[in-house]
Amino acid sequence: MQIPILKKKLNAIVGFHNLPNQVHRKSVKKGFQFAIMIVGESGLGKSTLINTLFNAPIAPTRDNVTMNRGNTAGDQDAASKTVDIQSFTSDIEENGVRLKLTVIDTPGFGDFINNADAHKPILKSIEERYEHYLDQESRVNRKNMEDNRVHACIYFIAPTGHSLRQLDVQFMKELGHKVNLIPVIAKSDLMTESEVAAFKERILDDIRANNINIYTPEVHENDDPETVQEIKEIIARIPFAIVGSTQTFENPPGSGTHVRGRRYPWGIIEVDNESHCDFVTLRHMLIRTHMEELKEHTNELLYESHRAVKLGERGIDMSSAMNPQKFEEEKRAHEMKMNKMEAEMKAVFQQKVSEKEKKLKQSEEELYARHREMKAQLEQQRLDLEERKRRLLAGGAAPPRTGSSTPKPKGLFNK
Ligand code: GTP
Repeated sequence: MQIPILKKKLNAIVGFHNLPNQVHRKSVKKGFQFAIMIVGESGLGKSTLINTLFNAPIAPTRDNVTMNRGNTAGDQDAASKTVDIQSFTSDIEENGVRLKLTVIDTPGFGDFINNADAHKPILKSIEERYEHYLDQESRVNRKNMEDNRVHACIYFIAPTGHSLRQLDVQFMKELGHKVNLIPVIAKSDLMTESEVAAFKERILDDIRANNINIYTPEVHENDDPETVQEIKEIIARIPFAIVGSTQTFENPPGSGTHVRGRRYPWGIIEVDNESHCDFVTLRHMLIRTHMEELKEHTNELLYESHRAVKLGERGIDMSSAMNPQKFEEEKRAHEMKMNKMEAEMKAVFQQKVSEKEKKLKQSEEELYARHREMKAQLEQQRLDLEERKRRLLAGGAAPPRTGSSTPKPKGLFNK
């Protein structure tokens, strides 16, 4: 039954309008965590994009290989024939807000002759992170839980201009339901504007045709028109055509204005210019507007379905544990099943008892019949003996014994 909620007007300020500030202060004090995974063939500009996104040397690039790769999970040597998973964690701060950023790189992906299983180590790593979180949730002390689940996975599509390759389709199909998948066209400065537009169309067709699940920001019921417009603009640019660079150039030369970009003989492609590429929209979505939503989506949908499967395997039905109505229905069904089983058992028992009773009655009747027969035979013997005695006493010859005609009683005592 639903309890009606009454709307009341306050006569004076009591102070709970300050709740958002309390949450804000607490969150700022605690800091934020975000884990981003980058997947794509070697040299597509993955590390450069991360460094461009956060405007800091977070991930080592080919142009800067002297940086240390830290916090490595499953390191393998260069000759390895499997995808490696490497993570780097950095604490970054902006206007007093701290962000613990984890970048998970996947060197080796798509770099082998046979890439059929290239997605498997990545899928394994994502699932292991969910498992780690599930283990923490099951602990008695759940304070200071570490969230190293992957909140966003940027998938780099090579700027071929054709359509998605088998490698791309396979990866996106397998991972789309496990992680917030964000497809990007790498190094889009290598293509013309119209080539990029046509390539985007083909990619979206392939995504639809292959039923691939990609992250798409959602419009919520009470979003203001400005937010709705912003979300529509983001969606319109998917898959994001990006250009990465941390290099700055004076543009136009002599103007004193410095821009990040890539220089070509015919001019400079600006990274932070929305008319040159989709980098700004991607950064806006990832960092400014949808970081929390990506985390929420990871926690409430992607992790939740992993958790339900895992707990199901351990014998705990989460759907009914979380849904009281379903729990009641299952309880009733279980009770009905038990009652049916009890009734069946009673019927079988009753049948066995009546069969036994019937058998006992039958053997009792047989016993009575034999008893009657024996009694009659004994009575006959007694009468014969009486007759002989009477004749003997009367002096006459005794008639012959009737032993042959009167058989000994059989049955009870006749063993
Ligand atoms: P691995 O670490 O080997 O997997 O490479 P990666 O994918 O991290 O590429 P990285 O960021 O190291 O960049 C590889 C090369 O591509 C470097 O020389 C970059 O300067 C260059 N590069 C990166 N982004 C872009 C881009 O958007 N356009 C162009 N034209 N080149 C880029």
